[in-house]
Amino acid sequence: MELTHIEHLGIAVKSLEESIPYYENVLGLKCYAIEEVADQKVRTAFFKIGQTKLELLEPTCPESTIAGFIEKRGEGIHHLAFAVADGVANALAEVEGKGIRLIDKAPRRGAEGLDIAFLHPKSTIGVLTELCEKGK
Ligand code: CO
Repeated sequence: MELTHIEHLGIAVKSLEESIPYYENVLGLKCYAIEEVADQKVRTAFFKIGQTKLELLEPTCPESTIAGFIEKRGEGIHHLAFAVADGVANALAEVEGKGIRLIDKAPRRGAEGLDIAFLHPKSTIGVLTELCEKGK
């Protein structure tokens, strides 16, 4: 498996509208897209820094895993996403072979048309880890 860069950091927030001004007015970043990912019950807002993005995640309903995360741990960094060069499915097979527990057994479609899959934080020393690659 070859990781090429940190694709994005996922940050759980209660409200995009209340969070975006901090990133824009204080940090000077520009929100370039807002997208709802119905599958994950979130609305996302994207910022770019070099080739890395920040992905703000707002729950769209109480059943969203992001809502559960905020309730338990408060707002803050939720996951770390690595870009893989050689296919998410290949990477999953490789890490599963090394005994890593998977949340997603197969890649699924995430925001921005990426193929994504999550590794279980119990196997990744507490960091919810996402592997992703531009979908084909
Ligand atoms: Co993500």
